[in-house]
Amino acid sequence: MSDDPLVRVDVRERIATVTIDRPEKLNALNPEVIAQLDGAFASIRDDDDVGGVLLTGAGGKAFVAGADIGVLAEMDSLTGVKVSRDGQEVFRRIEAFPKPVVAAVAGYALGGGCELALACHLRVAAESARFGLPEVGLGIIPGYGGTVRLTRLVGLGRALEMILTGDMVDAQEAARIGLANRVVPSDELEDQSRALLGKIIAKGPVALEMAIKSTYLAVQSTMDDALTFESSLFGLLASTDDMREGMKAFLEKRKPDFRGR
Ligand code: COA
Repeated sequence: MSDDPLVRVDVRERIATVTIDRPEKLNALNPEVIAQLDGAFASIRDDDDVGGVLLTGAGGKAFVAGADIGVLAEMDSLTGVKVSRDGQEVFRRIEAFPKPVVAAVAGYALGGGCELALACHLRVAAESARFGLPEVGLGIIPGYGGTVRLTRLVGLGRALEMILTGDMVDAQEAARIGLANRVVPSDELEDQSRALLGKIIAKGPVALEMAIKSTYLAVQSTMDDALTFESSLFGLLASTDDMREGMKAFLEKRKPDFRGR
């Protein structure tokens, strides 16, 4: 087996591009890819030179065409639970990542690939993007959070239609139902995804982290708990240098110089 990394990290202008690099198998997720993906995110989590993450797949034909069916074909009940839990835990860490994570999706985002895109904070779709959860056609169901996150994102009716038919949706349809945040020409995917992320990471880093936390809590708790949490984080931000700097810069009609503290 080759020692070439299956997941690459490249940091430029405060954006870490994490690339799943297994194009000959359309970037299918085997246990090594899942572990390296986890390692890649862990390696940049506390790096002050990284403000946000762009997640992408190598080769242009697929973001990720799913979990590796060759591996899934060998599983029994117990290993099936483990395969699912291992992936879920890594995806959950991506979703809970303290810096914004944007999926730049070109080509197929199927099964685990669609679920991986769903675990990112935002999704930019190239016109070539195709999203789908084809698992029922293999006699399984989505196991990396697809039934949960797709439903929360696009609603029960649309999620059930995708999950039960296994049909792919194109980029325009994905944007129409809220699965993709925007569609861009395929040759502009990287530039436009970087521009979106660049605009976000120019804001206060601590505020971004708290905004992500508060917004996710909003869809998994009661109204009262979510509001209480929001006001606590709001108050916490009042203790940051970034809040003083952001407001001072506004009053002085200049751009803020955030330090992330
Ligand atoms: N797991 C393992 N290998 C995969 C894969 C997956 N999810 N998706 C693609 N591959 C492999 C193919 O087996 C093929 O390998 P090979 O060249 O050694 O035979 C290679 O990637 C290229 O894929 P191929 O099927 O030849 O490309 P295509 O353009 O004809 O079709 C897809 C593209 C995406 C439609 C097709 O690959 C596909 O349906 N993949 C599975 C999607 C899926 O069901 N995902 C959910 C899994 S839970």
